Amino acid sequence: MKILCSKYQEWNIYYPENDKITLELGKNIIDSNYSVIKILKEGKRNYVAIISTNGKKYILKEFRSEIIIPQRKIQTYFKRGEALTTLKNGLESIEEDVFELVRPIAAIVKRKKTIEKSYLIMEYVLGQKLQTTKDIDEVIRITKKIHKLKRYHGDLNTSNFIKTSNGLKVLDTQMKKGMFFSFKKYYDILTLKEDLLVINLKYNVEENYKINKFRLSFVLAFLIKRLKKLKIINIMRKYKKDLREKGWKI
Ligand SMILES: Nc1ncnc2c1ncn2[C@@H]1O[C@H](COP(=O)(O)OP(=O)(O)OP(=O)(O)O)[C@@H](O)[C@H]1O
Ligand SMILES: [Mg+2]
Repeated sequence: MKILCSKYQEWNIYYPENDKITLELGKNIIDSNYSVIKILKEGKRNYVAIISTNGKKYILKEFRSEIIIPQRKIQTYFKRGEALTTLKNGLESIEEDVFELVRPIAAIVKRKKTIEKSYLIMEYVLGQKLQTTKDIDEVIRITKKIHKLKRYHGDLNTSNFIKTSNGLKVLDTQMKKGMFFSFKKYYDILTLKEDLLVINLKYNVEENYKINKFRLSFVLAFLIKRLKKLKIINIMRKYKKDLREKGWKI
């Protein structure tokens, strides 16, 4: 599917080809012609809300980290940014048959040389949190499907899935492909192992995914996870977070 870009005021609206309705939706968002039904997340790094416009509900997500963290902001000079990457890779994945992915609809980006502000509009999915071992079996099945396409989730945990009447839906992923795929795949698996529900249900992720622990990329992913968990790194992280809260831009 081709993605088109239309300029509207100082914004770029990215939307699927032959989809004038989505272009109009993008313009409505820019004109603030919508109402916020519920804010789901209001963080420094992200903002997520259920909105309504023209009688339909959507999810509006604002990506803030690549704007507030200087080294990430500089990278947006060369890169597409999170909103457009999520739209492009997400639509490609759905075409590749990952119908379990929450559909990204449009990206709205304001950039000068680097990105100044960016939003993603997604379909609104009604559902519940995951609860059971069977739910995690489904997470494993969907994850395998994603990995088979040489894509990875990037933040694989059960809160990034919603249980609907039509099965599980996956969200909060840029569906990236790319270098060091095996490493990223194993990193996904090790991230899922740290999930609270997975731990509480004593779910054996490695056994159910059937991974080969003797692969070099698994060992590497394992070591890097370990390293990140080391106390000294956590202390440094907390220090960084405290400074950020005091207004330091690091
Ligand atoms: N399309 C959607 N339909 C329904 N609910 C959604 C949708 N997208 C996000 N949510 C809800 O909003 C929450 C936060 O969204 P998301 O995971 O995209 O943001 P986040 O900032 O990355 O959150 P976190 O850091 O907690 O993973 C999700 O856990 C989910 O409950
Ligand atoms: Mg999330």
